[in-house]
Amino acid sequence: MKKLGILTSGGDSPGMNACIRAIVRTACYYNIKALGFIRGYEGLLDNKFIELTHKSVSGIIHRGGTILKTARSSRFMTTEGLQQAASTISANNLDGLIIIGGDGSFKGAIELSKYTGIKIIGCPGTIDNDLIGTDFTIGYDTAINTVVDAIDKIRDTAESHDRIFVVEVMGRDAGLIAIRSAIASGAEAVLIPEIKNDTETLLSKIKNWRKDKSSKIVVVAEGDESGGAYKVADTIKSLHPEHDVRVTVLGHIQRGGNPTCMERVNAAIMGYAAVNALTDGKHLQMIGIINKQIAFTPFEKAVKHLEAINPELQKLLEILSS
Ligand code: F6P
Repeated sequence: MKKLGILTSGGDSPGMNACIRAIVRTACYYNIKALGFIRGYEGLLDNKFIELTHKSVSGIIHRGGTILKTARSSRFMTTEGLQQAASTISANNLDGLIIIGGDGSFKGAIELSKYTGIKIIGCPGTIDNDLIGTDFTIGYDTAINTVVDAIDKIRDTAESHDRIFVVEVMGRDAGLIAIRSAIASGAEAVLIPEIKNDTETLLSKIKNWRKDKSSKIVVVAEGDESGGAYKVADTIKSLHPEHDVRVTVLGHIQRGGNPTCMERVNAAIMGYAAVNALTDGKHLQMIGIINKQIAFTPFEKAVKHLEAINPELQKLLEILSS
């Protein structure tokens, strides 16, 4: 292995920089050159990269976002795009490629592998935590801490006004941000895509909510079938006009901020393991950490977010909020 490429793709997530730093520093240690492609797969299409040195990744471990920038590239997922990306890879004599991203990025990598012989390894970078093969993705821990911090503030004002707050959090197809942040913030209910008809359950619960607790927090995952926080709030208002209801959509604040300690360490471990995986000849595998051990999962499997939310977490929330 003489030269590798790195790119960040899809939605950014805190900890991506810590991962890039670990990849580059590990590559330097092994005398492997590292090129960082700009704006994800777009950088491969346009042959736009920077040479990454030991020095160029100084002072980034604590920064959110990604120094390589990122994109969701529709151009890449065409035959012409994939051919173009493959010719950039051979023009630069790359032996390996490390992709930091989520399910869309790994699906792109599977397609790319049909046009080039390069070895490809993935590091799970998404706040959604919706990949099979790792306990936590890079960005998830920071995102849930951001959400909990915001809900703590919302709780103060909700309590002062005796209000219900419906708080919408990210998670396009998954309720993993919602469920953990709901437990950690003492929320009264959570609505997630993995559980059907949860709005009906919520509505029937509202009648029996404890009278001695004046504020109520309902956390809604953006991908829930209810259609989001505004719709949920309207339904509550129309069926329970006695309640004063407000909405907060947390949005992209969840994707920014300094990565937590846990995030930085996990990202560093995964970046280091990704370089080792390439030198060991591994291909189309995602690095993960399961029970504190490095794990490898084929991209094909990693992208299949079929896992149900742990029923114990649901039960826990139900009991603690009853
Ligand atoms: O995949 C991460 C994520 O933050 C999702 O939770 C969210 O639905 C999506 O990205 C938003 O993407 P964008 O910033 O492209 O609108």
